[in-house]
Amino acid sequence: MSKGHLYVGLDIGSAEIRAVIAEEISVEEPLRVIGVGVAPSLGMRRGIVADTNNVAKACNSALEQAERMAGHPAESLVASVSGTEIFCQNALGVIAVGRADGEVSEDDVARVLEEVQARLAMPLNREIIHVIPKDYRLDDQKNIKDPIGMRGVRLEMNALVISGSMSHLKNLSRSLEIAGTSAESFVVEPLASAEAVLSTRQKELGTALINIGGSTTSLAVFEDGDLIHLAILPVGSSHITNDIAIGLRTSIDVAEAVKLQFGSAVPDEVGKKEEIDLSIFDAQEDVLVSQRHVAEIIEARFEEILSFVNTELKNIGREGLLPGGVVLTGGGALLPGATELAKKILRLPVQIGYPKSLGGILDQVDTPQFSTAIGLLLLAQSNHSHKNAFSSSGLLRIFPESIHAILKKTERWLKQFLP
Ligand SMILES: Nc1ncnc2c1ncn2[C@@H]1O[C@H](COP(=O)(O)OP(=O)(O)OP(=O)(O)O)[C@@H](O)[C@H]1O
Ligand SMILES: [Mg+2]
Repeated sequence: MSKGHLYVGLDIGSAEIRAVIAEEISVEEPLRVIGVGVAPSLGMRRGIVADTNNVAKACNSALEQAERMAGHPAESLVASVSGTEIFCQNALGVIAVGRADGEVSEDDVARVLEEVQARLAMPLNREIIHVIPKDYRLDDQKNIKDPIGMRGVRLEMNALVISGSMSHLKNLSRSLEIAGTSAESFVVEPLASAEAVLSTRQKELGTALINIGGSTTSLAVFEDGDLIHLAILPVGSSHITNDIAIGLRTSIDVAEAVKLQFGSAVPDEVGKKEEIDLSIFDAQEDVLVSQRHVAEIIEARFEEILSFVNTELKNIGREGLLPGGVVLTGGGALLPGATELAKKILRLPVQIGYPKSLGGILDQVDTPQFSTAIGLLLLAQSNHSHKNAFSSSGLLRIFPESIHAILKKTERWLKQFLP
């Protein structure tokens, strides 16, 4: 029987739904994983809910497995949100410092944060999911990380605001409701993966996290410790499977098995004469196919995915310019040759990102496919220990350390956002 506080991370992926329950014995110790559940994803299309009942069924199945293993109900969970409707934009808030002596107070920081949101003309069909403060400017002084206690007249905050489609968020909530549960908060997928995979040093140096999932590839770019860009692209590893099915004129199931067992993103590393006997996957498919041909199909699609990522990096002026390089995670990162091809296309150092190690039953979660679920747990824990604020719709706002402390003390701010 568990004693500590329980956290539940639910990664609603397009290939699989993953639920992880973890226990916090003490804040000094890593979380202990006590329950894991995985179910094939149903009703999701490119990260968007296409059928609420099917999504509910799949979530239920993953949660039930995790609950049985943990011997505990999965309450107050944190869920991932993905899909091409997620956008990030830079935003600015400006206020006049309140105190007569010009000393910036916690209340000023809370006000400027409100101002960032108020200034954004968010369309009615979009919802702010996260507001991530980057830096402040106090009169002429720029790049301030924590302005409290400094003196000035005009306080500006630069922030990155991440928003999503209101209907998508509502459909996700509805699916969880049908599944008999609810999300305490939602976190965008690449942010959760980055939390699980990237070190503080990588975020400082300048690093791009790329999560290659089933039907999406998501990207989060960090520099000087701050998130500077985030994007979700509508293409992932299932597109490679589809290409193999078309190229070999075989079923999706056989194509997926071929990819998992014989796939490579580097054709030159596959012998010209190597052949795959498709009958080992399906007795009716009595054909031999060239393994190098399969690798060529994979390479073409993988190159395309990486070129989309490169375009995103180019758009923010970081193409080939991130000293911390690239970290590939998600199930698609497991493809042999993925790092080699990514190095060639992105012209950056590349490595595979595994989730930070926790305690408890680790064998199941120590894989790039669990990065998002583990990141959700870590963010839920950080949020809980900082008594962070939730928006009226229950969406988590993620703040750096300096802001957590302020939120803890600022009653007015908390009241405004507590449901
Ligand atoms: N060992 C492997 N080699 C190659 N590809 C793999 C391997 N294991 C899993 N994959 C691929 O990874 C994909 C699923 O990845 P993941 O579980 O991260 O996706 P997801 O989170 O469900 O989807 P999304 O993030 O797009 O919503 C599948 O297309 C699968 O074929
Ligand atoms: Mg995923």
